[in-house]
Amino acid sequence: MAGAAPSVAGPGEFLADVGEIVGSDRMVTDADLTASHRTDWTGRFAGTTPAVLRPGTAEEVAGIVAAAAHHGVALVAQGGNTGLVGGATPCDGEVVVDLRRLDAIADLDVIGGQLTAGAGATIASVQQAATRIGWAYGVDWAARDSATVGGSVATDAGGLRFVRHGSTRRQLLGTEVVLGTGSIVRHLPRVEKDNTGYDLAALLCGSEGTLGLVTAARLRLVPPAGPLATALVGFASSSAAVVAASTLRRSLPGLEAVELMLSDGVDLVRTSTGLSAPLATSAPVVLLVEASAADAPEAHLADAVGSLVGVLDAAVAVDAARRANLWRYREDHTEAIGRLGRPHKFDVTLPADELAAFIDQAPSLVAAVAPQARTWLFGHAADGNVHVNVTGLAPNDEAVAEVVLTRVAGLGGSISAEHGIGRAKRRWLHLARTPAEIEAMRAVKAALDPHGICNPNVLF
Ligand code: MLT
Ligand code: ZN
Repeated sequence: MAGAAPSVAGPGEFLADVGEIVGSDRMVTDADLTASHRTDWTGRFAGTTPAVLRPGTAEEVAGIVAAAAHHGVALVAQGGNTGLVGGATPCDGEVVVDLRRLDAIADLDVIGGQLTAGAGATIASVQQAATRIGWAYGVDWAARDSATVGGSVATDAGGLRFVRHGSTRRQLLGTEVVLGTGSIVRHLPRVEKDNTGYDLAALLCGSEGTLGLVTAARLRLVPPAGPLATALVGFASSSAAVVAASTLRRSLPGLEAVELMLSDGVDLVRTSTGLSAPLATSAPVVLLVEASAADAPEAHLADAVGSLVGVLDAAVAVDAARRANLWRYREDHTEAIGRLGRPHKFDVTLPADELAAFIDQAPSLVAAVAPQARTWLFGHAADGNVHVNVTGLAPNDEAVAEVVLTRVAGLGGSISAEHGIGRAKRRWLHLARTPAEIEAMRAVKAALDPHGICNPNVLF
């Protein structure tokens, strides 16, 4: 078992072993039934798998990992399968470990503001559990009803509230994980301050399932936002919008989100949803700004927006239905772009002073190597994080990735802000990390996943 040299017996004997661990009714081999697990959300990454396993406890996961180590079988963990870089897709015939049955939310601490969530708990269910005890969960994004805690830890998901609360790593107090060695390492502390050595949870966060399978997380909760107001604010240029995002970070203490859209993306969302024009004056660049205040949040927001330079038009909403309506222009981008075909997604961050120029140049950068393609840009303006989506490319096109990611790295940005490297960007990891860093990362992988069975085909 763990520690033994992997044999080459193959998946048949492995499946016989794990069938006894999870039960035959929790092992799906029928190709029709595994289909939804073999393709990623974008449809760009697809593969085959001998089986999808659905364990119900960390101990069962440990049994699966031990059997995989023994038989030399590669595993890929999956939750809601909402990832966007092929990081949870069995493209090389990996066995899929579907962790969604591990969805318990337990040990809620109303005084301390913490809870423990199983890897399969959805982000929405964590948010609801936090709300029930008078707290909130600080990470949120449109796929909240399907995306799971395990996936958010694997990718260090950022989302729509990063400007306020940071990414998943900042919410993480500890994890329960089955390492590639087969051992269960459970560190789910009920204390906020804990510097008793290596922060394994922080290391696992963003490791994309390459070190082990996270089965639960101890999550720090945040105070709930007060009454909210939301605005769409139109600008004539990216640079005016980027400067405005910075101004808002300084001038609005209750700032919750600053999201960026371009007019063609807004039009695409409108075509796909039937929404009407969000502003009376059309604007090339639109920010969605949300802020809270105990008293009259719409007045604070309107004051802050009123003091911005370069505003063409603005719409402010305070009641929940109208606010939700404004959010649709931003949140529906992913679905609307997905309807055009299989997008190539480049989730990049730029230094603040390079962001506007990059947004302006990205379409021509893409057009130079793929004139038939279309570029769609949206993202998290306050974080410097822009999602470059390109439609009209062959699934295996790499020319666009090469120019976009090389330019981002050259400007001092990151080639992955919140989606991960996955399969989509592993060829370009060297743009983001030095050889010495990659060597150190490989050494960590070798120590925690000595048999090389944990998602071996992503990241590196
Ligand atoms: C978002 O910000 O909406 C998500 O990262 C999803 C996406 O990039 O499509
Ligand atoms: Zn995003």
